[in-house]
Amino acid sequence: MQHEKLNEFNISQFQQDLINWFKENQRTLPWRENKDPYRVWVSEIMLQQTRVDTVIPYYLNFMREFPTLEDLAYAEEDRILKAWEGLGYYSRVRNLQTAVREVVEEYNAAVPDTLKEISALKGVGPYTAGAILSIAYAKPEPAVDGNVMRVLSRVLEIDEDIAKAKTRKTFEAIIYDLISKEDPSSFNQGLMELGALICTPTSPGCLLCPVREHCMAYNKGIQDTLPVKSKKKKAKRKLMAAFVVKDEDGKVLIEKRPDKGLLAGLWQFPNVEVDSHSFNKEEMAEALSLAIGKPISIRDRIQKVEHVFSHIVWDIDVYTAVIPIKEWEKEGQRFVDQYQIEDFAFPVSHQKIIKHYFSEAF
Ligand code: ADE
Repeated sequence: MQHEKLNEFNISQFQQDLINWFKENQRTLPWRENKDPYRVWVSEIMLQQTRVDTVIPYYLNFMREFPTLEDLAYAEEDRILKAWEGLGYYSRVRNLQTAVREVVEEYNAAVPDTLKEISALKGVGPYTAGAILSIAYAKPEPAVDGNVMRVLSRVLEIDEDIAKAKTRKTFEAIIYDLISKEDPSSFNQGLMELGALICTPTSPGCLLCPVREHCMAYNKGIQDTLPVKSKKKKAKRKLMAAFVVKDEDGKVLIEKRPDKGLLAGLWQFPNVEVDSHSFNKEEMAEALSLAIGKPISIRDRIQKVEHVFSHIVWDIDVYTAVIPIKEWEKEGQRFVDQYQIEDFAFPVSHQKIIKHYFSEAF
């Protein structure tokens, strides 16, 4: 049975208006050059939590480095992380590689085209599955992200909280009835594009909207009150001290983060969590010596860095430090110079340290 929200709704006219508008007004984007499922897949993973403008240069570079599934499947982890450096949510690219390897090994390098098989791949959730199936394979599957929920909550006057995980299912059920069976790709991308260009979070451009006549919220003048979205908890602050540890040749010590958890597998300067930023060199030296396993002495505070993640804020004081031992490296740690350091992927906060440190002589 058709979803009750669609009882008085002109589905085929809505499809036509949306798809015609999309075909005439879509942005030229590099992942729209063709429908290669691997290219679509990479773009959809990058576009999760990341803006189109930010994604474009990363996408172009990624496709130069890893033009095919096979190139990505067996690339070294440090290389894929370097290609993702600065995009955030690094588990996305680690999962993508795991999934791509499975496609090479289990599916003879052809991305599967069924919901069941594609959803079983690592990192492929309902949104990504629907996006790949509809865009690359023309299957009428919903691809519901925040943009799509915003658009449809207005068009169909739906007041469920879009911050709640289960709300996505409501929209998926509706889209199964609403989606064009002839052109599901343009339909889904049309919803995304409308959300990006016209039906924006604040001050939607209703006067330019191709589906204004269908829009229940617009007809009642309540488009600004939708979607309903409850506020996230405020991010917690984490106070840290990070250390640029120099050896006698001016090389600096970097270490690889653990392969699980936040920023897994990226490189960083040694650092510790601190209770406060009151400067006590002795305590700091003790904590740092413990963290890196060697005696150390702290020199100067050279920088403050703040980095905001979705759920946490890193508030980092950066110090120089010296290590009185030459020619020493532990597993997962190494001394590198200004040029070698460019081959390693760092969290954005630590990229700021690199930039500052190597642009000034300390
Ligand atoms: N956001 C998510 N997927 C997208 C796509 N394929 N094109 C533009 N923006 C998007």
